[in-house]
Amino acid sequence: MHFHGADILSIDPLERSDLATIFEVAAMMEVYAEHQKITRVLEGAVLGNLFFEPSTRSRVSFETAFYRLGGSVTNILDKTATSIVKGESLEDTIRVMGGYADILVIRHPEEGALKECAEATTCPIISAGDGAGEHPTQALLDLYTIMKETTRSLDEINGLSIAIIGDLKHGRTVHSLVKLLLLFHHIHFSFISPKELSLPSDLLERIASHGHSVREGTDLIHGIRGVDVIYMTRIQEERFLSPSEGERHRGSYSLTKDLYELACGPHARVPILHPLPRDSRPGALEIAHDLNNHPALAIFRQARNGIPLRMALFALILKVTDKIKKEHSLQ
Ligand code: NCD
Repeated sequence: MHFHGADILSIDPLERSDLATIFEVAAMMEVYAEHQKITRVLEGAVLGNLFFEPSTRSRVSFETAFYRLGGSVTNILDKTATSIVKGESLEDTIRVMGGYADILVIRHPEEGALKECAEATTCPIISAGDGAGEHPTQALLDLYTIMKETTRSLDEINGLSIAIIGDLKHGRTVHSLVKLLLLFHHIHFSFISPKELSLPSDLLERIASHGHSVREGTDLIHGIRGVDVIYMTRIQEERFLSPSEGERHRGSYSLTKDLYELACGPHARVPILHPLPRDSRPGALEIAHDLNNHPALAIFRQARNGIPLRMALFALILKVTDKIKKEHSLQ
């Protein structure tokens, strides 16, 4: 993939060699993300951060990543704060915003809306999630986290065994992560969900046609036994047609310390990931609080990894990687 000026709307156009490029730059960004070194390579550049759906982590992490590179950020956090309420089309809004910024990050509640945005402007767009579609940058940081937590190189992702649990039908981070893992060989997928919330059939077909192995089931303990990585997700209640349908699935899966030790062993270090937010309402809790201080709980390290990973994407798309590499070697 040619990164300069590119949109990142889906995992589809990415190749395995692109992952090596992104992760290499992300690794270099870690010292800047942690403020151990300072760079201003994006001084004067503006990010338009457009979130038409609630978000904390993704929005703030894109924003922080841009600031850490020396750039400035304009935030639009709500459709009701834009001229869309005056009847302006999404296309016009994006065309105008694209003229004000060097790069846009957009989250939109409708699947496919980001494609429409990309057609409206030449300004590069990074998707921060489109409805139940995809969330490509979350999947990239998830894989980056998997590599770090399991101390695997990119090549060693081949053969990985991963359990993905929860709302696999609506979970856009799951859709992007599955697509990303399809770039490797011999992945063992263990999908655990209520039957009605299983992985969309087109993705299952893609997995089968790439020769990976799949186990689908509803039982948490059985599904996580023997895997290398556990990826929990939230029931995406906002995607259901009626709130009661979503509530019906609340608390379908809750990983507790006891269940984890029963399935993985008393001294296990099988990393537990979650894109967050974890639903902490009574009866939900995908990961119980008794795992909060467990060394295998990777969720907060995972969220932190979003900064260097998103810095890497900004640097590649805005073509400042050579500049920062030069600074990096001189400092
Ligand atoms: C996810 C999302 O928005 O899809 N959150 C995130 O960006 N980290 C997952 C979720 O909302 O459950």
